[in-house]
Amino acid sequence: MKFFVDTAELDEIKALLSSNLIDGVTTNPSLIAKSGKNIKDTISNICKIVKGPVSAEVTSTETEGMIEEGKVLYSIASNVIVKLPLTWNGLEACNRLSNEKIPTNVTLCFSAAQALLAAKAGATYVSPFIGRLDDSGIDGVELISQIRVIYDNYQDLDTKILAASIRNTNHVIQVSMLGADVATVPPKILKDLVKHPLTDIGLENFLSDWQKTGQKIN
Ligand code: E4P
Repeated sequence: MKFFVDTAELDEIKALLSSNLIDGVTTNPSLIAKSGKNIKDTISNICKIVKGPVSAEVTSTETEGMIEEGKVLYSIASNVIVKLPLTWNGLEACNRLSNEKIPTNVTLCFSAAQALLAAKAGATYVSPFIGRLDDSGIDGVELISQIRVIYDNYQDLDTKILAASIRNTNHVIQVSMLGADVATVPPKILKDLVKHPLTDIGLENFLSDWQKTGQKIN
């Protein structure tokens, strides 16, 4: 199970890197807009500090435009993954970029049928949006389960399931139980994963008992 961090904020990425728990980064146009920075500078700066896959999304909606933008983004660094929307044009662009050995992440996936098409188009990753499905009243986690079954049925479908739009720690647990290959998680939720009140109480008690002994380890 890999963890990607879902942010375009360099400082947030830097703060998490020393843990060695982060395997990659995902961005999207909204996250780039929120950062207020230039996309190429941002992706370049992230790729300088992150060795793993870094998703950068195209904004053209036409096949040729997506391919051109995808090549520009991929030229920034060899660990860039070109993110494409799950549209007919996006699938065509995915197929063409995949044929040129440029890795892709087909995003905005909301159904198992879409995920099947993304895999057929040669996507390196598919990004099912769990939280946005939940928001619309559909069980987002169930989609991970369906995609896992479909991909496992066919050895030639080697697209990795990248669970996205993660809103809470329970989403992370559920998608990992269902066999998602990757979860892309906002920094706050990554930090929340370590929290448990019994850990805090237990540590407090251990330290208080230890203090009474007057001992030091070094
Ligand atoms: C990452 O690849 C996705 O773009 C992101 O997880 C979407 O998350 P959101 O639904 O919280 O915007």
